[in-house]
Amino acid sequence: MFVSTKDILEKANEGHYAVGHFNINNMETLQGIVKAGVKLRSPLILATSEGALKYAGIDYLYCLALTAANSAAIPIALHLDHGRDLNIIKECINKGYSSVMVDGSHLPFEKNIALTKQVVELAHAKGVTVEAELGTIGGAEDSISSRQIIYTDPKKAQEFVEQTGCDFLAIALGTSHGAFKFKGQVHLKMDILKEIKKTIPIPLVLHGASEVPKSIVTMAKRYGAELDGVKGVPDDQIKLAIKYGINKINTDTDLRLAFDAGVRWFIKKKPQDFDPRHILAPARELIQNVVEERIKLFGSRGKA
Ligand code: G3H
Ligand code: 13P
Ligand code: ZN
Repeated sequence: MFVSTKDILEKANEGHYAVGHFNINNMETLQGIVKAGVKLRSPLILATSEGALKYAGIDYLYCLALTAANSAAIPIALHLDHGRDLNIIKECINKGYSSVMVDGSHLPFEKNIALTKQVVELAHAKGVTVEAELGTIGGAEDSISSRQIIYTDPKKAQEFVEQTGCDFLAIALGTSHGAFKFKGQVHLKMDILKEIKKTIPIPLVLHGASEVPKSIVTMAKRYGAELDGVKGVPDDQIKLAIKYGINKINTDTDLRLAFDAGVRWFIKKKPQDFDPRHILAPARELIQNVVEERIKLFGSRGKA
């Protein structure tokens, strides 16, 4: 059984730590994440984007995640990431997801409120909780074209939460999706976070939070990846964000980079070996290592 995302995050909110949201697209990624969670006794939020569902199919990803939740002795929640298509959101609610994100961040304020409210009503009727987004996170995703950062307005955030009844709120503090997050100095708007935390009691979410670890990037580049100019969120910024009230931290890019580095390494080292199990096992192990580091950083180790 999946556990409630709300329960996981409310405990994190009370305990002043964050829990990792990790995106899954296939079995090896999921297994690497879950192995790390079990080893460090951390709750986990597994997430599927609309792109992941399109790639793998909801039945496959749901069953993989449910297998993990039923066999691992840690709390595991399943979450829809960046739900934009109401049909997909409804499908996830009816399927038995723990929570869904409704991403109305591209809409004008009132329209974002109306859409979020609609999803909250549908989801709560089935015991599913809802993450919403106010402000915009930069960068590009599969279904969302590249966009500018618009920082969350703390006053509007309070009104938004009161009007929609959402359970968690994703806020924009200056992070972006993907591996190219910053050109110059890294500076997240902690003042905005502090202001929001004063008035909003629900758990807060940080998207676009990957570190883009140097060791993984170096490894991927050594075996052929072209990744000049990549830059992620430094650990000290993540620690500050948790200190000032972030409770859910989304990571996808670091897993993709680890997967890429592992596959490239193996193919280059063993060009005569074409067994997919041999090709994918090192990627799975690197993902586990990356997730272990994230769990330690977030403070969720031992909270399962
Ligand atoms: O927030 C975005 C996640 O990294 C998912 O990306 O839409 O390419 O699956 P995707
Ligand atoms: P990254 O691209 O920084 O991993 O962010 C992922 C994310 O926010 C998923 O919703
Ligand atoms: Zn995101």
